[in-house]
Amino acid sequence: MSNVIVLGAQWGDEGKGKVVDLLAERFDIVARYQGGHNAGHTVFIGEKKFVLKLIPSGILRPGVEAVIGNGVVIDLAALLDEIAALESHGIDATKQLRISNRAHVIFPFHRLIEKMSEARENRIPIGTTSRGIGPSYEDKTGRRGIRIADLYDPESFRDLYDTLAEDKKTLAATFNLHDTIDYAEIRAQHELYAEKIRPMVCDTAALLADAMARGKRILFEGAQGTMLDIDHGTYPFVTSSSASAGGASIGTGVPPTRIEGIIGVSKAYNTRVGSGPFPTESDDAAGDLLRREGNEFGAVTGRPRRCGWFDVPLLKYTAMVNGFDTLFIMKLDVLDCLEEIPVCVRYRLHSADVTEMPATYRALEAIEPVYENLPGWHTSTRGIARFDGLPTEARAYLKFLEERTGVEVGGVSTGPERNETIVRAGSKLERLIG
Ligand code: GDP
Ligand code: IMO
Ligand code: MG
Repeated sequence: MSNVIVLGAQWGDEGKGKVVDLLAERFDIVARYQGGHNAGHTVFIGEKKFVLKLIPSGILRPGVEAVIGNGVVIDLAALLDEIAALESHGIDATKQLRISNRAHVIFPFHRLIEKMSEARENRIPIGTTSRGIGPSYEDKTGRRGIRIADLYDPESFRDLYDTLAEDKKTLAATFNLHDTIDYAEIRAQHELYAEKIRPMVCDTAALLADAMARGKRILFEGAQGTMLDIDHGTYPFVTSSSASAGGASIGTGVPPTRIEGIIGVSKAYNTRVGSGPFPTESDDAAGDLLRREGNEFGAVTGRPRRCGWFDVPLLKYTAMVNGFDTLFIMKLDVLDCLEEIPVCVRYRLHSADVTEMPATYRALEAIEPVYENLPGWHTSTRGIARFDGLPTEARAYLKFLEERTGVEVGGVSTGPERNETIVRAGSKLERLIG
């Protein structure tokens, strides 16, 4: 009985929400291990569309427990909004959801600091989601952050909060920022929020350990994607947490030895939101076509996503740092109308072959991708649910990705809905989710 991680192999929005929702019925618990409400995981169930930000996509499966792990940063107002939105669809999230007492809190002033940081002269803006994610993680690593457990120790919370607020006021003044924040009101609000979530708060590492001891299976849900990982991504154009596989252990307290499988989720092409290098970006008509066909607009901010081609060196890199057992290739149907499909097969830099992922964004910006063109299939693959039902060229395309990345393509998605999915018979994926 294996515990498995599902995470993004590119720059996010690969379709993790769909995969987690799909697989959740085979697991007892779905646990989020990092990020916050910067994530936007879209799940379609028939006519209904859900965009989950903080709450693991497993919540949509009755009977599955959803855990927000210690590695997540939580905006309590956003969390309560999300719970209310689910309630309006008849889902009582409070029954299934458990929240780590060690997760850090995002306060409204974190957004202020982020605004300041993004707007600073001589600083390259990252193009963040403006949710206060980075500043909250800064306070965490700066050892002055406030955790969910602190909210239940009123005296200590007031002291911690007032000290943190003083810090932020000083910072705002230093940068001449017009600071209209009512710090005392925010503190009082959080005392109320804390009561509302109290029944869901616990030591989730202990909860998961106990569940494993009883033979329960855990599915770990990554947010963002490996190339946005704070260590392994395109630094500094990254998010502030460990989106890669290692983060699952740190962000939940489940030992690495208890995680048996890692599923990488990748689009059949590539997208990115926000700034930063993107070697296979196609900022021309082809990119527009991908955006239109793939409806590539941010689930959280509505920003148009930058679009481009599948990047083999990038996938090999994310497979290396994560140890993917198998790949789920998403949105194959978006390529249906193309005559030819370019795939980047290697990188060149200053006329020489590049064998390792460059460490600096400057080098990555200078990369010259080398493409091979594969024939398109010009027919609809939408909704095809059997691998041998795919057109020959589509199968050849997937085989090419598999051979060049060195990772099995175990799953293929041909539409946003649950049933528009292929799990290949005899694949590692099939065995992992068994
Ligand atoms: P996530 O952040 O990784 O969960 O991905 P997002 O939800 O931000 O973006 C993926 C989008 O693609 C969502 O709108 C999904 O409904 C949609 N989607 C997922 N799989 C497919 C697919 O195979 N085909 C199409 N056309 N859309 C898909
Ligand atoms: P999901 O889980 C795509 C990007 C932002 C920005 C950078 C830093 O839906 O795949 P942040 O607000 O995290 O400090 O922004 O990371 N980013 C995402 N891009 N999908 C996401 O989440 C993202 N979460 C953050 O656009 O470039
Ligand atoms: Mg998303």
